[in-house]
Amino acid sequence: MADADNIFLVAPPGLEAFLLAEVQDLGFAGARQDKGGVTITGDLGTVARANHLVRGATRVLLRVASFRVMHLAQLDKRARKVAWGDWLRADVPVTVETVCRKSKIYHSKAASQRISRAITDTCGAPVQAGQTLTIKARIEDDLCTISIDTTGAALHLRGLKGSVGKAPIRENLAALCLRAAGFTGAETVVDPMCGSGTFVIEAAEMACGLAPGRARSFAYQSLAKGTAPPRLPQAQDTPARFFGFDRDAGAFAGANANAKQAGVDGLVSFTKQPISDLQPPDTPPGLVMVNPPYGTRVGDRKTLFALYGTFGKVMRDRFSGWRIGMVTSDPGLAKSTGLDFQKPILFDNGGITVGLYRA
Ligand SMILES: C[S@@+](CC[C@H](N)C(=O)[O-])C[C@H]1O[C@@H](n2cnc3c(N)ncnc32)[C@H](O)[C@@H]1O
Repeated sequence: MADADNIFLVAPPGLEAFLLAEVQDLGFAGARQDKGGVTITGDLGTVARANHLVRGATRVLLRVASFRVMHLAQLDKRARKVAWGDWLRADVPVTVETVCRKSKIYHSKAASQRISRAITDTCGAPVQAGQTLTIKARIEDDLCTISIDTTGAALHLRGLKGSVGKAPIRENLAALCLRAAGFTGAETVVDPMCGSGTFVIEAAEMACGLAPGRARSFAYQSLAKGTAPPRLPQAQDTPARFFGFDRDAGAFAGANANAKQAGVDGLVSFTKQPISDLQPPDTPPGLVMVNPPYGTRVGDRKTLFALYGTFGKVMRDRFSGWRIGMVTSDPGLAKSTGLDFQKPILFDNGGITVGLYRA
C-alpha cells in the first residue's frame, strides 16, 4: 500500500494554531499548519490514530491524488488513473462531493459525475448520496485534489453524549478552547453555566488521557486495505477535579448522565445552582471555562447584560487567582462583565463568529 503522506486534519476556522499544537503534542510526524487545518504525514495507521486520538479536529482527510485539470474530458481521463482499488471496496458505496473554485471547470455536479463514473468503472464501488465513506474533490486554480474523508460523522460526535441540552458547544471546539485557555490537564476546571457539561467532561477526559474516539467507528474502517484501530491509552489517575453548575434542572441531569456515559463521573461533580450562588471549590485556583447564553433575539439582551454582569462580579469577588476563559458571540456582553480580557481569539461556531475571551 502506498504511504499516505498527505493527511489533512480539518480545523475549526480560527483555531488552526491550537490544533497544530495538539497534533504536535500527540507526536504526529511532519505536522504543519495549512490553510484550514493541519497536515501530517504517515500511513493508514496514522489515519486511524488521528481519528481516535485528536480532540480538536473536525475530520481527517487522506489525500490520494492531485493533478492539473482544464476541462471535463481531462478530468474524466485523469480520474480513471487514480488507484481507486487501493482504497475502495466494490461492496461499499461511496458519496462523491466536489467543490470548484477559480477554475476552468466550474460545474461541480458535472465534475462529480466524471469522478463517480471513474470510481465505479475502475473498482466497482457504487456511488450513492449520503454514504459514510465520502470522496471529496476540490478543484482550485485548475488543480484537482482528491481526498477520502476517513472520519464519517464529524469528530465532535464522540458517540457518548445522550443529552445535548439547549446550545451545546461542540466537543472539538471545547477541547481547543480549553487548550487555548492554557489548560494542561493538571488543574481544576469550573464551568458555572455548564449546560450538558461539555467543557467539564472534555477537561476530565483530557486530564485522565481518555481517547476521544474510544466509543465510535470511523469511515477508514471500511476502506479496501483496512487497518486495525490503534491500541488506545488506558485512563490515568489524576488529582484534578472538574465542577459544573447550571440553574436548569434538565441541564444538570443531562450533564450527569453524559459524565457517566463518558466514564468520568468519578472526577466530575455537577450541581444545580445559579451563577449568583457560585463559590470556588476547595482546591488550588484553576480555570473557569464558560459559554454563557448569547441570545440573538433583541429582547433577550437586557437580561443577558445582567447575567454577564453577575458573572464578572462573582469572578472578581470570589475567584481571585483563577484564570477565566469565556466563549461568546457578543463583544458588548463580554465587556459588560467588567473583566480585563485579552484580545479575543475569534473562531467559527456553526456559522456564527464567536470569541474566546481570556483573563
Ligand atoms: C450556551 S448554554 C451552555 C452550553 C454548554 N457549554 C454545553 O456545551 O452544553 C448556557 C447555559 O447557561 C445556563 N444559565 C443561564 N443563566 C444561568 C444562571 N443565572 N446561572 C447558571 N446557569 C445559567 C443555561 O441553563 C444554559 O444551560
